[in-house]
Amino acid sequence: MCGIIGYTGDGDHVMDVLLTGLSGLEYRGYDSAGVAISEPERTAETEPASSRAGVASTPAEPSAVAGDVTVHKREGELAALEDALPDGSVDGAAGIGHTRWSTHGPPSDANAHPHTDCSGHVAVVHNGIIENYEELREELAADGHAFESDTDTEVVPHLLERELARGADPEAAFRTAVSRLAGSYAVAAVVAGDETVYAARHESPLVLGVGGDGHFLASDVPAFIEYTDRVIYLDDGEFATVTPTGVRIADERGNTLETSVETISWDPEDAGKSGYDHYMLKEINEQPEAIRDCLRERVEELSGSVSVSELDDVSLVRGSATDGDSTGRLRPVQFVACGTSYHAALYGARLLRERGVPAQSFLASEYTTDRVPVSAETVAVGVTQSGETADTLRALREANRAGAETIALTNVVGSSAARECDHVTYVRAGPEIGVAATKTFASQQVALAMLAAALTDGGSQALVESLRAIPDGIQRVLDETNARAVAREFVDSDAFFFIGRGYDAPVAMEGALKMKEITYRHAEGFAAGELKHGPLALVTEETPVFATMTDSQSGGDGLSKILGNVREVEARGAPVVAVTDQPEAVGGSADHVLEVPSVGPAFTPILANVQLQLVSYWVANELGRSIDKPRNLAKSVTVE
Ligand code: G6P
Repeated sequence: MCGIIGYTGDGDHVMDVLLTGLSGLEYRGYDSAGVAISEPERTAETEPASSRAGVASTPAEPSAVAGDVTVHKREGELAALEDALPDGSVDGAAGIGHTRWSTHGPPSDANAHPHTDCSGHVAVVHNGIIENYEELREELAADGHAFESDTDTEVVPHLLERELARGADPEAAFRTAVSRLAGSYAVAAVVAGDETVYAARHESPLVLGVGGDGHFLASDVPAFIEYTDRVIYLDDGEFATVTPTGVRIADERGNTLETSVETISWDPEDAGKSGYDHYMLKEINEQPEAIRDCLRERVEELSGSVSVSELDDVSLVRGSATDGDSTGRLRPVQFVACGTSYHAALYGARLLRERGVPAQSFLASEYTTDRVPVSAETVAVGVTQSGETADTLRALREANRAGAETIALTNVVGSSAARECDHVTYVRAGPEIGVAATKTFASQQVALAMLAAALTDGGSQALVESLRAIPDGIQRVLDETNARAVAREFVDSDAFFFIGRGYDAPVAMEGALKMKEITYRHAEGFAAGELKHGPLALVTEETPVFATMTDSQSGGDGLSKILGNVREVEARGAPVVAVTDQPEAVGGSADHVLEVPSVGPAFTPILANVQLQLVSYWVANELGRSIDKPRNLAKSVTVE
């Protein structure tokens, strides 16, 4: 997830508009930032000596002067880019900007966008993932194109350069270049001496701003709401040609499309939240996009295979780590994690155990190698959104000292966990601002499902179909949920219980954690079978019980057992909310039903969790809590 901005209009303000836009998009990424401005035609005498774009070594000069496109880019937050800009930097007719959340290549000046072609006459920014970039890179390299970054994006300016060299006009060249891309993209380009911004989208957001002093495009409205509230939302497969005087939307063949301009009613103050009252609600709604990004390049529908390239060198076959004889048994996997990530780890360990791997999850704060047997045969996986949680880092370091092979499963490229572990795989959820983890939990679950398949049987058609169905399934939950009404019903309850079995058990625990974090109400979540071993003593008509009952349990006798648990609490008068994909089977036993679509055993609980996130959110909202920054809690806990 990255943020892009484009502007064409008042030539004196291009840089200001781009920088303001990027500051409104930093919630989408902040590990590097950059801008490119296409200047008006220059004379040969003033043409810079270097015609190849790159990164300048001294901040006093533009990062690159590339023909008539000037590029400035820097690793780090937007402030680092602003500090590096020379006074009186060149302004021009049209510009594009980018704030990055890395997926390909670590944060660095070279990997920051915009990316340029060999001649430096074309600059491109991109949000999304280009799945066929390796193949395109090989093809372009064979044609003599030279690459300077590790990114997937860099193929785009070179494709555009090739089309321009073949004589195409910029608009046609851009369309042909984009037609070669597989994957997801919101992409924007400027070409030297041209005051147009060319843009296209496929499965990544892109919105145009129609203003008085020019026209804008961006990943999200906050980037330009200061200048205009009139917007056009682009659909998949649409192209935009944006000039100072107008906007043309076309289809893949260049035919002009009719579009309507909408007026946004948000207050600019709230724009960072895209009109949502809280980042948490916005992040809950970002889950389909986050999961699509997590799945990209890793699942192959036709062959039904899952491959996580970052884990290609990991083998769970015993002996593979010690050069001993393989006994055929699999190496033990130990997950270490805290908080929400621990619930994801419980889920991941269960997935591996189901595939015959001896896998366990540990609370990182409880994990010490004098109590847990660790050897060179052990694989230790740290599940950590931030990659900076002190307890998790300590546990990983201990495991490493005891000889284990370590893997970080994290959301932050270049984080401590990512740097210190032997291997790292990213969940690609984009930045999460709300303290209570939401979209990162869903992305961790999906990343763990892929890790489990990649390290064992390589996946199956059914698995790939289920994984691919998750984003649309979550979208349905978001569109059809009645969580707000359920929340209103129980807003005065002092205590909540969450129960589930099998894959639903970690979701019950996460449901309770969310509820206590943001509502400050007492909440407990546990495997439903534990109810009668203690918690039942606390169940009364005042304590709602949320029972997650999905097809993840129906393979065995789980569903009938949890229905038995539901009857136990009903007998004590407790109101029951069923979270289920099987309302006919269980709905009759519940006072309320939060329905989810079925996406296959083991994965439907990911959707059930979204309903629980929404219930907690709406209870907290009714209570007027500080939802994005709950009292006493921090996003990243860097002390043990
Ligand atoms: C804090 C956050 C939680 C998070 C936990 C682990 O407590 O408030 O939301 O689950 O840390 O963080 P990590 O970055 O390691 O996933």
